[in-house]
Amino acid sequence: QTGQGRRIWKDFIFQDEYERDKIYYDQFPDGIGWAAASSAYQIEGGWNEGSKGESIWDNFTHKSPCWLLRNQTGDITCDSYNKIDDDIAIIQDLGLSHYRFSLSWSRIFSDGRNTSGPLADGVRFYNDTINKLISIGVEPMVTLFYWDLPQALQDDFGGFNSSDIIDHYVNYADFCFRTFGDRVKYWFTFNEPYTYCSAGHGLGVSAPGLSEPEIGVYQCIHNMILSHAYAYHRYHQLFTTAFAQGVSITLGTEWVEPQDPLSQEHWDAADRYLQSQFGVLGHPIYVNGDYPDLLKEIVYNKTQNQPEWASIGTRLPEFTPEEMKLINKSSDFFSLQMYTMRYVTPYYDHPTSFVSFISDKNAKTLCDTRWPQSPSATWLRSTPWALRRLLSYIKAEFGDNPIWVTENGFETNEIYNDYKRVFFYKSHLNEVLKAIKKDGVDVRGYSAATLTDDFEWGAGFTPKFGLYYVDFADSNRTRYEKRSAIWYKNMIQVQGFTE
Ligand code: NOJ
Repeated sequence: QTGQGRRIWKDFIFQDEYERDKIYYDQFPDGIGWAAASSAYQIEGGWNEGSKGESIWDNFTHKSPCWLLRNQTGDITCDSYNKIDDDIAIIQDLGLSHYRFSLSWSRIFSDGRNTSGPLADGVRFYNDTINKLISIGVEPMVTLFYWDLPQALQDDFGGFNSSDIIDHYVNYADFCFRTFGDRVKYWFTFNEPYTYCSAGHGLGVSAPGLSEPEIGVYQCIHNMILSHAYAYHRYHQLFTTAFAQGVSITLGTEWVEPQDPLSQEHWDAADRYLQSQFGVLGHPIYVNGDYPDLLKEIVYNKTQNQPEWASIGTRLPEFTPEEMKLINKSSDFFSLQMYTMRYVTPYYDHPTSFVSFISDKNAKTLCDTRWPQSPSATWLRSTPWALRRLLSYIKAEFGDNPIWVTENGFETNEIYNDYKRVFFYKSHLNEVLKAIKKDGVDVRGYSAATLTDDFEWGAGFTPKFGLYYVDFADSNRTRYEKRSAIWYKNMIQVQGFTE
């Protein structure tokens, strides 16, 4: 059963806060996975080593306007390309069962194409990483595309603006499945498509830096969904999978609730918000191969109502019936990335309201200032109960799939005594435990974000999400354990919460 999200949503709202925040003492089920997350551009460095080609993030940071990155780049960052053993050592020390990292496409095919063959150094680096993880008993979880598109594919036909990307992506995925798939059992085709497309093709604050808010965001999402679906089926031509392993796509969202739960307009605004950034991907992939009706309605109507865009036509692309068949249920497990929640009101007064894909939501979000806030990632407040609610929503809306929480984490600037991050993980993991034990949600694993401090995209090195501290002025890039690493390690050993 799917499409029931909105029905159960209302049950959460009137929960008593004291009951809600009480720690629940129990063990996690046997076999639950414990991971930490990273991504190539955020940690690898070695941006042109081993004949690696330029990616859109190399290009963007080398050229980006100084107001954005102040000359910070991921050219070296944690230098994991040369210090993978340091990462392996802390992964082992934490006692993780899984480690999630991504492959840099242009480290394998420098211009994104397999014309001159794969780059030997890149393939060796990833084989080495995978083999080392397996030798310490850690399952690799591999993301194929974590935002660092080969620049050549952007230059030649506009990257994810064009359906030309689909064949290139599937060829790349095919190569990775054949090369690493004998050892890698968990694959993610894309990391947070909505974030990539809205920031990179709509707002222009991330690579490739395009501001094409009327149609670019939807085209980008559309081409990603298709690329995902074709790659999913390619994998299944090559491999059979065990339950809760195989291919997924990570979907990120904030949890949202109406600011005024007694107002129908607030509910409608919250629904528009969630359908625009979460349903836009979850509905095609998990429900019926197509976009949510609500989205078709709002994206289409805007075109009708606003004559200046009339020439564009319906801004939401359409899938053919064959494509819908390919997309429907093209995932082996659900992969959720959640950091925070927002209250939604219908009173839209965002200064960038000209940005049409944002105003499609026609909603404004607020935070409760009592919630602990991150110092530099100011969008992030710790809202643990929201994770439990979102997990139940996913089960009702997208069906009873096995779920991995592939990213959840907090940004604080402490070097060692990161008690706010300890509090974040403790309270969020306790909510995951409640989701499993009290709500019957099939959570298979959890990945803390991130393993080490790293390059936080357009925000550079200031926001620190790591379980491990890295001093980016120190040429050794030594990894230092924080309190949160010690807490996570201990929780993994005891597998739960004891009084
Ligand atoms: C989600 C992205 O997947 C990740 O790379 C980023 O670090 C976090 N958001 C925090 O902004």
